[in-house]
Amino acid sequence: MKKNFEKGFVAPHPVFIIATYDADGTPNAMNAAWAGQAGSNQITISLSAHNTTENIKRLKEFTVAYATRETAAECDYVGIVSKNKVPDKLAKCGFTTTKSTKVNAPVIDQLPVTIECKVIKLEEEFGDTRVVAEIVGSVVDESVMTDGKVDFDKLHLLTFDTISLCYREVGPSVGDAWKIGKKF
Ligand SMILES: Cc1cc2nc3c(=O)[nH]c(=O)nc-3n(C[C@H](O)[C@H](O)[C@H](O)COP(=O)(O)O)c2cc1C
Repeated sequence: MKKNFEKGFVAPHPVFIIATYDADGTPNAMNAAWAGQAGSNQITISLSAHNTTENIKRLKEFTVAYATRETAAECDYVGIVSKNKVPDKLAKCGFTTTKSTKVNAPVIDQLPVTIECKVIKLEEEFGDTRVVAEIVGSVVDESVMTDGKVDFDKLHLLTFDTISLCYREVGPSVGDAWKIGKKF
């Protein structure tokens, strides 16, 4: 028997770690789970007023790395603390950065997969800033690749559970898309 649940929800949410440069050129990062794919090569993120939001509005470029099991605590930390209050926020959790070669934004050395993004559209919507950006490149650690492709079995990708407010690891493949359904 189905019951009415008090409110609806969307699942799974990604755990994006957005990295930007401050006006003085120092790197920052924040956690964003209200995000997803918007087109074939575009992403969308809903941002409240943060140091990172100001950086994106100013530079129109940023990177997004994916949180992993091994970096869960670090990725959570950058979502708890603002650089406005803790200027050495990244150093506190052991994150170091290298400048992207494609956008004016930092790549976090400790996170294995990073996409490089350029803003297409910024809209004030539902009380937040909705960012739509094009993915212009990506950098991936060899340690999470198999035969030249990102291997989810090695990546240990996290998803954000909005009901229990915890991070969960994305599990093993249960069947090939566009194939498993052919049995009917
Ligand atoms: C799990 C999680 C998800 C979050 N998702 C978002 C989000 O989608 N949008 C947003 O504006 N803030 C989100 N935040 C809050 C920011 O990451 C947080 O306020 C951060 O400290 C901002 O950093 P900054 O001020 O240094 O830019 C999230 C935080 C956590 C822990």
